[in-house]
Amino acid sequence: MHHILDPGPALLTEAPIEVVEYPKESPLTEEAIRAAVEAHECQGILSQVMDPLRNTVLSTPGLKIVANVAVGFDNIDLDAATRNAVMATNTPGVLTDTTADFAFTLMMAAARRVPEGDRLVRAGRFDGWAIDMLLGQDVWGATLGRVGVGRIGGAVARRARAFDMRIIYTDEVPLAPETERELGATRVGLATLLREADFVSLHVPLTAHTRHLIGAQQLAQMKPTAVLVNTSRGPVVDEAALAEALQRKVIFAAGIDVFEREPEVHPGLLALDNVVLAPHIASGSVRTRSEMSALAVRNLLAALAGERPQNLLNPEVLDRVAG
Ligand code: DGY
Repeated sequence: MHHILDPGPALLTEAPIEVVEYPKESPLTEEAIRAAVEAHECQGILSQVMDPLRNTVLSTPGLKIVANVAVGFDNIDLDAATRNAVMATNTPGVLTDTTADFAFTLMMAAARRVPEGDRLVRAGRFDGWAIDMLLGQDVWGATLGRVGVGRIGGAVARRARAFDMRIIYTDEVPLAPETERELGATRVGLATLLREADFVSLHVPLTAHTRHLIGAQQLAQMKPTAVLVNTSRGPVVDEAALAEALQRKVIFAAGIDVFEREPEVHPGLLALDNVVLAPHIASGSVRTRSEMSALAVRNLLAALAGERPQNLLNPEVLDRVAG
């Protein structure tokens, strides 16, 4: 395991298990994780988003569970886990509102140019009020385009309601009619969403289908006044295309919490003022990271005790054992 937050360590200490810390080098390779798991004959791994857990690791004899301290689990090859009869779990629910808060923070910071203003003041370049200083885009009353119908997108949409925003969304699966009514949300195709939204907020998991969902072509369909927000996974956006679109003012701004080759950031983005960059901290409140730690530990301990973990992603593993 990596360092986790209270009460996670106490829950582990109380359990009849031996705990081994991950090797210190960062980021870890699959080979380093496999070597550590083998050396200590680990039955469980408490993993985080930057740990690659693919067949090399998942085929380690004796491994029973990988418990991710995250809702996203694209770092785990779920098919390989199932093939090797290793349970995989994540931490949904506990981070929904905190992550939605941050998506909204990025929307507002990018639209109202907050980091630019901060830099200007610190640089001693604030010479007094000016009618045209750092003019931004309004969030209130604007149209939110929500890509993906998951929990976090829903929590962003609820916040948008309070800002009198019109909500359009796109996904293969429609929302339940009562949810559409409650949010005042209308389902549209991606092209319509990109054309009509003032804010495009991404809330899809990373899959083969969503990789580079937003590239040069999609950015070109957005309004020149629009803001793109990504708190999902970096590779959902073609980062080079985004840097170019921002540089050429194809869109107004972006707020980005996740990167294509994390922790690397495309150098084109670093040079721009119209993008707010955050280091993958959307779920990073004290309370939420603690709850994520505790939930992941509970999932791990349940599996090691031979019980069904609450957030099991591949129930086939248990069904196969039972069958
Ligand atoms: C997640 O949970 O998937 C986030 O990206 C990390 O908190």
